Amino acid sequence: MLKEGLEKQEILKILNEKLKSDYSYKSGSILGSMCTEPLAIAVEIYMKYVAKNLGDPGLFLGTADLEEELVTEIGDLFSGKKIIGTFTTGGSEANLIAMRIAKKLRPDISFPEVVVPCSAHVSFDKAADLLGIKLRKAKLNDNFELDLNHFNSLINNNTCGVVGIAGTTSLGLIDPIEDIGRIIENKDIFFHIDAAFGGFILPFLKNLNLPSPLWDFSVKFVDSITADPHKMGMGVIPTGGIFLRDKSILQKTGFEIPYLAGGNFKHLHIVGTRSGGTVIAFWAILKSLGINGFNKIVEKCMNNTNYLVKRIGEIKGIKLATNPIMNVVGITTENGRSICKIDEELRKKNWMLGKFEEFNLIRVVVMPHVQKNHLISFIEDLESILKK
Ligand SMILES: Cc1ncc(COP(=O)(O)O)c(C=O)c1O
Repeated sequence: MLKEGLEKQEILKILNEKLKSDYSYKSGSILGSMCTEPLAIAVEIYMKYVAKNLGDPGLFLGTADLEEELVTEIGDLFSGKKIIGTFTTGGSEANLIAMRIAKKLRPDISFPEVVVPCSAHVSFDKAADLLGIKLRKAKLNDNFELDLNHFNSLINNNTCGVVGIAGTTSLGLIDPIEDIGRIIENKDIFFHIDAAFGGFILPFLKNLNLPSPLWDFSVKFVDSITADPHKMGMGVIPTGGIFLRDKSILQKTGFEIPYLAGGNFKHLHIVGTRSGGTVIAFWAILKSLGINGFNKIVEKCMNNTNYLVKRIGEIKGIKLATNPIMNVVGITTENGRSICKIDEELRKKNWMLGKFEEFNLIRVVVMPHVQKNHLISFIEDLESILKK
């Protein structure tokens, strides 16, 4: 550490230099991220309220009220009547909270297990590891959809929770949430939906008359939903969210925090201190965009997705892994050739995609920062790599 501090100008100059190697959303080369440039108003508001701490809500009563107001709005969006919820550092924390609740609600199970699809995000492996839960992974069919029979066969007397995904990390697919609901009907099993990515697309796909199967609290047995503002919600990093149907869960499973300046309260979080600024920023996003603003963002992403789908279909040697439901396009090879080499070559040309070796696919997430001209250049490079 320096003995004497530097002038602001000097700090800015050093940072400018040091951060040159970062990729930017604007350049278009980030084609595999589920995050994007936050909405400008969110950045402005976040900076204004950066010191608000929802880890001590008794000191920030206005911010805490705003969080509740936001949860009510999200409840409406997710077909819930009067849900509870809270904002987290992201989808991983939200999934960890859900898994903890599933375990806590079944103290009678000595060796708790949770059934997830193979396509579940790695945050479930982390949660299982941290909580001492055995994760049972259900196979996918050849078309990457969940093998429901296998899922069903993994449920037993030790099962405290099951997970369905609404927007898988690899392909943006939606598990058969209603069918899973029917499987656990009349069983004392917690049903969590991971819509970290899909949560802020699916309600708007429906408005655009695009197919979107039921996935939210409209499905009777869904107990909780992860949905992340810092993905398709256009929010500031870090903002995830966990939403719960049953209000009593906070009382039953929350942690009592005993020492705060604002007074005792109960919460479900893993972290203590947490940003109020990100929550206020997301409140502002909903006010600023409204349903129609989100519809427009999702429509643009889906138009670009359709363009990419069409172009991939014209290229020899590769094919779509599956027909996208949302703005995630998986690309695999036609002849079973490894996708890794193609990914390597694309990286040399600065195209940063996600790679899923177990499924032999690379995938483009057509986020709001991805423009059609970025996709045109990407396809040109992809074609030239495949011709080599
Ligand atoms: C479906 C899904 N769930 C959870 C997560 C984890 O979210 P985070 O990176 O915000 O912790 C991701 C991340 O991409 C995801 O795709």
